[in-house]
Amino acid sequence: MKGSFVSVAIGVAVLGLGALAASAAPTYVGATKCKMCHKVEYDSWAQTKHAKATADAKAAKDRKFDAACLTCHATDKNEAMAGVQCEACHGAGSDYKTLSVMKDLAKAKAAGLVMPTQETCNGCHDGKDHHKHQAFNPNVHAHKVAAK
Ligand code: HEC
Ligand code: HEC
Ligand code: HEC
Ligand code: HEC
Repeated sequence: MKGSFVSVAIGVAVLGLGALAASAAPTYVGATKCKMCHKVEYDSWAQTKHAKATADAKAAKDRKFDAACLTCHATDKNEAMAGVQCEACHGAGSDYKTLSVMKDLAKAKAAGLVMPTQETCNGCHDGKDHHKHQAFNPNVHAHKVAAK
């Protein structure tokens, strides 16, 4: 009796997971995963203010840090994903990070890769409060040419 209940329960759990995997949204993998293949972009990005966005918000003197700051001052609104990382602009990477998908731009986009536009920037740089507007900049990783 007990044994068959357990196997039915496992069967249901496996089916449930399968259904989830087929329809689940991509998840965030973190910038160190992207670094494996994009060291140039990573090293440059690491010197931008985006990389330090969570630490800077926590250290703010004129505004009190709270979880709502993470909407723009982290990736996936989550302090465990500190900084405005790659995926805050390029989309969650779990489904496009493999080489076979990445080397085919159309496939990568279908798997969630975002090539950012002004709209992407506007998501955080909404021009309100201290969230200054920033013009789209194709070299936004390159700390030496940060737009103003
Ligand atoms: C296994 C290696 C690998 C990993 C991991 C990887 N990429 Fe890529 N990526 C590539 C390759 C190969 C290309 C094809 C273009 C090139 O050679 O740079 C590419 C292209 C891109 C492009 C440019 C698309 C275009 O054609 O203009 C972006 C943006 C990008 N990757 C972002 C990311 C992000 C963000 C991550 C982490 C979530 C990531 N990649 C992880 C290998 C990888
Ligand atoms: C709607 C998105 C958004 C939210 C929410 C937000 N910020 Fe910001 N924050 C930004 C943007 C965008 C910038 C960069 C503006 C620029 O381009 O110079 C910034 C810059 C900053 C800076 C550095 C420049 C400055 O103005 O001092 C600090 C510190 C900061 N934010 C703290 C916070 C704190 C603390 C919170 C929560 C109470 C918060 N932010 C909430 C988007 C946001
Ligand atoms: C603030 C937003 C933003 C962040 C954060 C960001 N990127 Fe980008 N990325 C862009 C933009 C904008 C482009 C240029 C898109 C275009 O040319 O249409 C780009 C282009 C790229 C390209 C194509 C080749 C190139 O250098 O132009 C790769 C690869 C890439 N990003 C990888 C990364 C990786 C890896 C990270 C994290 C270490 C990262 N990006 C973080 C906005 C961002
Ligand atoms: C997920 C939210 C988010 C997105 C998307 C985003 N940014 Fe930012 N950006 C920030 C935050 C937060 C800061 C402030 C970081 C700090 O000062 O610690 C910032 C800072 C900057 C700065 C530095 C300003 C300075 O004072 O030097 C530039 C330039 C910038 N962003 C440009 C862009 C561009 C261009 C895009 C679109 C391609 C973009 N950002 C997308 C949140 C974002």
